[in-house]
Amino acid sequence: MIDTKRIAAEKAVTYVKSGMTIGLGTGSTARYAIESLGLMVKDGLDIKAIATSLQSESLAEDLGIRLTNFSEVEQLDITIDGADEVDENLQLIKGGGGALLREKIVAASTRCYIIIADEKKLVRQLGNLPLPVEIIPFGYQSTLPKIKMLGGDVSLRKDAHEIFVTDNGNYIADCSFGIIANPPALQKKIKAVTGVVETGLFLNMANLIIIGCADGTLKIRIA
Ligand code: A5P
Repeated sequence: MIDTKRIAAEKAVTYVKSGMTIGLGTGSTARYAIESLGLMVKDGLDIKAIATSLQSESLAEDLGIRLTNFSEVEQLDITIDGADEVDENLQLIKGGGGALLREKIVAASTRCYIIIADEKKLVRQLGNLPLPVEIIPFGYQSTLPKIKMLGGDVSLRKDAHEIFVTDNGNYIADCSFGIIANPPALQKKIKAVTGVVETGLFLNMANLIIIGCADGTLKIRIA
């Protein structure tokens, strides 16, 4: 059986060249890209990378990928990351793994933001899955109902019985608004709630989408 995530990742890394600074995504699809980059580094590829999560950082370290940070680098050349949903206008929902804040900071500093995914992630409109929203722990009991007032079902993400804590020490509210007819308007409303740090709506950020298909082909969409 074709590993659709892997073929998308393997195509994405072909854009990476020596001398580049690369953003490393988070999740099972991005993991394939990091592993491929690790092999390329062993073969002499000379890159520096910033990871979007502690998990990806430690994987990159193990694979011998040189890490850098925003005190040394202002802009990244390419970031390769996964997504939870990709709509027809190349708008995204991310954050299923809870790394959305670092992912968005890295994406916002990247010249070419490449999203890799399998066909299951393609949707006509965003909103089939809950939208992850990163919130500050202080006063979360008051923040959650304010997000709920925007018309969604809101649940605080738990890891077994404990509250899930992001790499930034924050919490995640998973918010189901149903189909999101107007993503920019929803983004604006959620961001206006005090206590919200960032949402998993990645709007007008992706430059290239690479979808791995079950028949072994790739669908490539350019923004
Ligand atoms: C991490 O927080 C997410 O944004 C991931 O990039 C997204 O959930 C995709 O993950 P998978 O590649 O594991 O489906």
